[in-house]
Amino acid sequence: MEHKKIVLATHNKGKIREFKELLKPLGIEAVGIKELMSIEEPEETGSTFEENARQKAQYYMKACQLPCLADDSGLLVDALDGAPGVYSARYAGENASDEENNKKLVRELADVPFEKRMAHYACSLLLTFPDGRELVTFGTCNGYIQESPEGTNGFGYDPYFYLPDYKKTMAQLLPEEKNKISHRGHAIATLLKKLATYNW
Ligand code: IMP
Repeated sequence: MEHKKIVLATHNKGKIREFKELLKPLGIEAVGIKELMSIEEPEETGSTFEENARQKAQYYMKACQLPCLADDSGLLVDALDGAPGVYSARYAGENASDEENNKKLVRELADVPFEKRMAHYACSLLLTFPDGRELVTFGTCNGYIQESPEGTNGFGYDPYFYLPDYKKTMAQLLPEEKNKISHRGHAIATLLKKLATYNW
């Protein structure tokens, strides 16, 4: 099989490990951008997950001239008109911790009854090629924001993200269970399907 390489537009070690494992069966070597060069992270100024993923993928692709894969994700709450959305990581302010973001989320939803706390996670994945082509996929996962945290797995808003089908929060699922149903898991599965028959 021809050797193919994709650069991962992230500095997150967990994501790099996951993508390496997923792309290997397709004969694709995935390398983190840091393994290739020392480079600052770009600013994220887009108003959608796709725009942010494109910004990151193109920024690193221009620097290394190899196909680059970026993801961008977040939480959207219906009763908050889609907030925190693209601001999920910095909902309570620049460099806010998960705990601070969660605290703000619970505060903002204080007057909203449980049945009106519908929320969804969303993830855009974007693979950009030096010849200008790109592959884009999207995944979502629906749930409700509960009042108190439960579970210690996952990260971010997971302890508050209740999944009616499982009667558990996302943080109570095992990592492999989360990967099967999560926004990121769905976006990755669609990308792998597209890549398996893609000519590049
Ligand atoms: P990133 O795109 O992975 O940087 O995620 C942006 C932000 O969205 C994170 O900092 C979290 O606040 C939130 N987020 C994205 N995916 C998840 C998830 O799977 N669980 C919990 N929070 C998430």
